Amino acid sequence: MARDDVPGPHGDADGAGESYEQIEHHDAPVQSGGEANFAPAEPDDDAPAAGRVERDPRIEVVEREREAEDFAYHTGTQRVSETPDAIEFIDVHKAFGRNQVLRGLNMGLPDNKISMIIGPSGTGKSVCIKHIVGLLYPDEGDVLVQGVSIPSLADAELFEIRKKFGVLFQDGALFGSLTLWDNVAFPLRQHTEKGEEEIAEIVNRRMGEVGLGGEGEKMPNQLSGGMRKRAGFARALVLDPEIVLFDEPDSGLDPVRTALLCELIKEIHAENGGCYVVITHDIMSARRVAEHISVLWKGRIVESGPAEELFASENPFVRQFLAGESAGPLGME
Ligand SMILES: Nc1ncnc2c1ncn2[C@@H]1O[C@H](COP(=O)(O)OP(=O)(O)OP(=O)(O)O)[C@@H](O)[C@H]1O
Ligand SMILES: [Mg+2]
Repeated sequence: MARDDVPGPHGDADGAGESYEQIEHHDAPVQSGGEANFAPAEPDDDAPAAGRVERDPRIEVVEREREAEDFAYHTGTQRVSETPDAIEFIDVHKAFGRNQVLRGLNMGLPDNKISMIIGPSGTGKSVCIKHIVGLLYPDEGDVLVQGVSIPSLADAELFEIRKKFGVLFQDGALFGSLTLWDNVAFPLRQHTEKGEEEIAEIVNRRMGEVGLGGEGEKMPNQLSGGMRKRAGFARALVLDPEIVLFDEPDSGLDPVRTALLCELIKEIHAENGGCYVVITHDIMSARRVAEHISVLWKGRIVESGPAEELFASENPFVRQFLAGESAGPLGME
């Protein structure tokens, strides 16, 4: 439903000096922490606050109308999950120049579940992953991992907390000058005291699991895109991380390998537990592995919750997206 109590888009120069006021775009997961960075709220009524530069009211009207249109399908419904959130985005805004990517994102990703973030291309999914690992910082708002505010960490603390993460970046992000084997071994050599024998055992096991058993000596540029992806997948898992972030692990893979990879994600999660976050465009993958789904569009959550509830959603955008249909609110844009 259209909401008219949403704040102005990030970048408004007004509101300086106003006191912090919590805005409920939708039911934010947990309201702990992160207060320091919150944007000043724009009041619901049209009366300008004291000390504020007055703007042409017509601009405000146009902005409100545009926002209402942009977020017409964003009920922001966050259906309750059984487990507490391991990762929380709290009113996060992020812009690159004039491109406002995250526009007051409230998103909770539950612990001990496989969560999927799905949404149209260019909507900010990869940007979310980069916020979680502290490669990008929010302009406003906060990102909590196990209750710790990532943007507030000093470099040394960030380095420490990154040991909990396994990350598969969208492009695989292998080191071009290292063999596949050394790429997969890299986190173990970097972050643990393990001997080469133990490292070899772990690396061989993970490479075997992703079907790259005999390919260890190859350099990344000698591999197909799908092989690089699988190597990145193996590398993300060698540290048995508590939090695993996969950015499109299934893109560039054939359907059979995609199905096998989904099985592998489920198996490894069943074995280790933890918060797994998978970004995908593949609805079949979502049906196979997702326990929790967050649908992201225009920088906010349209709806999120247990997978079966999302697949049964009445929301026209969610239905269009999860059914992969051309008819619906989403056009080519
Ligand atoms: N470092 C950056 N500098 C400038 N703009 C960026 C940067 N990173 C991302 N963007 C912009 O942010 C927007 C969201 O990008 P993002 O990569 O998160 O999309 P996505 O949802 O992952 O899309 P896809 O499904 O195609 O991977 C895009 O408009 C992109 O151009
Ligand atoms: Mg992406």
